[in-house]
Amino acid sequence: MSGAVTAASDCRSVRALHRVTLKDRKAIGSAYHVLTFESAEPIVASAGQFAMVRSETWGSAPLLPRPMSLLSAGKDPSILIKVVGEGTRRMAASAPGEPYQLLAPLGKSWSKIPAATRPVFVAGGVGVAPLLLLAEELASAGGPKPLVLYGGRTAHDLPLLDQLRAVSDVRIATEDGSAGTKGRVTVLLSAALDEVGVHNQLAKVYTCGPHAMMAAVAAMCEGRVPCEVSVETPMGCGYGVCLGCPVPKVSGGFLYACTEGPCLDATVIDWGHRKAGA
Ligand SMILES: Cc1cc2nc3c(=O)[nH]c(=O)nc-3n(C[C@H](O)[C@H](O)[C@H](O)COP(=O)(O)OP(=O)(O)OC[C@H]3O[C@@H](n4cnc5c(N)ncnc54)[C@H](O)[C@@H]3O)c2cc1C
Ligand code: FES
Repeated sequence: MSGAVTAASDCRSVRALHRVTLKDRKAIGSAYHVLTFESAEPIVASAGQFAMVRSETWGSAPLLPRPMSLLSAGKDPSILIKVVGEGTRRMAASAPGEPYQLLAPLGKSWSKIPAATRPVFVAGGVGVAPLLLLAEELASAGGPKPLVLYGGRTAHDLPLLDQLRAVSDVRIATEDGSAGTKGRVTVLLSAALDEVGVHNQLAKVYTCGPHAMMAAVAAMCEGRVPCEVSVETPMGCGYGVCLGCPVPKVSGGFLYACTEGPCLDATVIDWGHRKAGA
């Protein structure tokens, strides 16, 4: 996977509508696909940033582009998709040569891993995309090798596992026990947090996946280790105009995932797991 990743503060990291061509679509099982595009102008982005993606062949429906984490940037940007509805179904059926528009880079990237800190990534399904790019970014910068806890419902729900293994230490969990530890990925996190405590290490957790998984990860980390999440809230515009991506804040009110996130400190978000008065 080519990275072409730079720091989020890079002044070249400017949002633009890129008219690109689908170069390759690789199916991973029946539900997952990697789409790689050809872009005349390189997309300069950092891990955790995303693109609003729409094929020019869609006509008037689906009307809105779909937010997708960048799996790689540069002149051959790519995304990993899971088919859940009409937009992703069309992406999964598209053929090389199809014209697409990518509005990118968007949103805030993952924050820097503090010095002397063990990065622990918790990924669920397609939530692996922004974490794989972060692991590749760390590897190319000579940074620490992350411990990646990767969970899926079955062995078929662990896309890009080999690429992940190339840049990190991976432990896997599946709910049906078809690969790795049987159970949810939080079982692995519980053990990893205990190891960190025993060895008196500093650690920071980065997580992306289904909302319920991230809420559970945030609850386990609270008061123990810092935790950053990448939220996958439905979005309309991707750059702060439609107010369609509110995330409830623990302090009351909302923040907007496309401009204030998607990568956020987990303690800022009201996950709904705190009891009133607790
Ligand atoms: C910043 C960001 C990064 C994302 N990165 C990825 C990625 O790398 N790969 C990937 O496959 N998906 C990613 N998503 C989710 C992706 O945007 C949605 O799955 C997609 O928009 C669904 O479009 P659709 O037309 O196929 O489904 P729709 O027809 O719009 O919806 C089908 C079903 O999916 C549900 N749904 C729609 N959007 C979401 C969502 N964001 N979260 C949970 N359920 C949803 C709907 O409620 C509905 O039940 C990301 C979302 C965000 C905000
Ligand atoms: S998606 Fe439009 S404001 Fe966030």
